[in-house]
Amino acid sequence: MTNTILNFQTATGHEILAAAGKKYLRPGGRIATEKLFQWANFQPGETVLELGSSFGYSAIALAKSYDVRVVGVEKNPDSVACARANICVAGLENQVEIIEGNIFNLEAISGKFDYVLAEAILTMQSPLGKAKILAEIHNRLKPGGKFLSHELLATDKEEQIHVDLARVIRVNSTPLSESNWITAFAKAGLQVEKCQTDSMNLLNLRRMFQDEGIFNTIRILWNILTQRNIRKRVLEIHQVFHKYQHELGYIILCAVA
Ligand SMILES: C[S@@+](CC[C@H](N)C(=O)[O-])C[C@H]1O[C@@H](n2cnc3c(N)ncnc32)[C@H](O)[C@@H]1O
Repeated sequence: MTNTILNFQTATGHEILAAAGKKYLRPGGRIATEKLFQWANFQPGETVLELGSSFGYSAIALAKSYDVRVVGVEKNPDSVACARANICVAGLENQVEIIEGNIFNLEAISGKFDYVLAEAILTMQSPLGKAKILAEIHNRLKPGGKFLSHELLATDKEEQIHVDLARVIRVNSTPLSESNWITAFAKAGLQVEKCQTDSMNLLNLRRMFQDEGIFNTIRILWNILTQRNIRKRVLEIHQVFHKYQHELGYIILCAVA
């Protein structure tokens, strides 16, 4: 397994949270993902392409609960190795495949899919990057296929949030308002059928218990308390989340190609 040493100064926010032990890195947590899956109405044997599949948790949950086939694309070799190990433990090697690759090169993936799933990945792209990926998502979907999306929402102060977030999570993070997300999807030929928004509680204790369970939450808190490098970065991120607690949220969208 590849095991890159993390530079705590330059690492991205999700790498820092993962180093603290956080498994769920999406802004609406498990509850939002489950809602998105309900909307999808997956049928056994259907195909899902997941962008930024990280440790494989969503891919595994999908394959287990809905008997679908999943292909994940992930660029971080450590996450790819971890996802493959998790898939092996779950006994899902014949149903879930993780490709080490870049979501800017989706044309390299053969075939068309019934669904594309992307959680906490579009937000971190520039406006041009979002447009390029959305167009490619449209190309990877079968006619009538669904794009399932779970991202950060900015109900106000988009520009200010972009600057502050990019500084603390070291990624060009650009959350959009509901109408701007819907417009960006529509420009790529993806018509939003369902959409839901709520507050963003990624680092909220109650949400952490829901997403991670009691033992992993204790482990995460312990790592934050005892590891200075992690603590410093998590506190910076937490401050920005707190500063924009009334403007930052999550959005889930189900769009049809
Ligand atoms: C914030 S995490 C979200 C992970 C997962 N989807 C979840 O919700 O828990 C974003 C993931 O996307 C991956 N990623 C970021 N940019 C990527 C790119 N250009 N191509 C492929 N994967 C990428 C990161 O390595 C990371 O695992």
